[in-house]
Amino acid sequence: MLEARAAVRNLHAYRPPLAGRVGLRLDFNESTVGCSPRVLARLRSLDSELLARYPEREPVEKEVAGFLGLDPAQILLTNGVDEAIHLLCSTYLDAGDEAIIVVPTFAMYAIFAQAEGARVVEVRAGDNFTFPAKELLTQLSPRTRIIAISNPNNPTGAAVAGDVLIQIAQAAPQAAVLVDEAYFEFHGETLIGQTRQIENLFVTRTFSKAYGLAGLRIGILAGEARQMAIVRRVASPYNVNAAALAVLPEALRDQEYVNRYVAQVLSNREKLQQELDNLGLHYWPSHANFVLVRIGPAHAEFVRALRDRGILVRDRHSDPLCEGCVRLTVGSDEHTQTLIVALREVVGRLGLRGSLRNEVRA
Ligand SMILES: Cc1ncc(COP(=O)(O)O)c(C=O)c1O
Repeated sequence: MLEARAAVRNLHAYRPPLAGRVGLRLDFNESTVGCSPRVLARLRSLDSELLARYPEREPVEKEVAGFLGLDPAQILLTNGVDEAIHLLCSTYLDAGDEAIIVVPTFAMYAIFAQAEGARVVEVRAGDNFTFPAKELLTQLSPRTRIIAISNPNNPTGAAVAGDVLIQIAQAAPQAAVLVDEAYFEFHGETLIGQTRQIENLFVTRTFSKAYGLAGLRIGILAGEARQMAIVRRVASPYNVNAAALAVLPEALRDQEYVNRYVAQVLSNREKLQQELDNLGLHYWPSHANFVLVRIGPAHAEFVRALRDRGILVRDRHSDPLCEGCVRLTVGSDEHTQTLIVALREVVGRLGLRGSLRNEVRA
């Protein structure tokens, strides 16, 4: 009988709840309003000739590099950040190597690392999900070959200062340090410029969140030019589809659209956090387009009650340190208002108002 490698046999299937997502999507941190009309117009203008050809990545990589102020040799466009993580794991991890992650965090770091046969070393976040820099440094070993950090972090919304991450990269020259900036636009701080000098630093960006293009599957991996030449060897030359490559320059040009959406999200994040304060629910102030809230034992009922009102949110109860927690995506003014109205009803109906105010915080 055909058997998969042991590392793959031992993986748990990761099935995010994608089925039947009818309603207001506040469960996957996507844009709630979608992409710029200019991007949509470009998409509608595509013809069969474009689809008949294998897609060419390089010209678009040049444009992206120009936008980011980097050398094109430092940029690889990928099939979402997911593929970028996969490529880094394939490039740097041998069986028995170690990949360090800070938990709770995005699931794909551990999955791709384990698939290579690496050992995942989990470092738990500190009180209120602060970044455990000291603990992480004590876990470094000669076998540490990947350190993956989401900044800001999903699902907590916590951020860590860039100089702390640079310190980690300098302390582990044998490891590829991935700083995943999937939520950069909502935070505004970046290490992408440092990839020019720091050989083992990699930064990822996505068009799935602020740009409203999760369905197109496009992301950026940036790194030092010589390292990127190595990573490129394991990437398919056609990893990014023609439609994504055709619209990406237009998406970058319409910064006004992205900036307007980001400004709305930032103001709505404040509004939502204020409302959670008023309702006496415990949450963690966020640097991204979502807020993690502690609901307590009624977390599943809470998610169901919102779904009954047409709003999808994500139960994070099973994540480490996230007992009873639910993650709410922040979107447009209208969508946030809809969420707030539903929250008031559901919190009232389930008797959650103020119930967790005095609980010990994670
Ligand atoms: C931290 C983080 N990285 C990467 C991704 C996936 O990005 P992409 O859609 O570009 O694969 C997500 C999506 O939720 C995320 O939260």
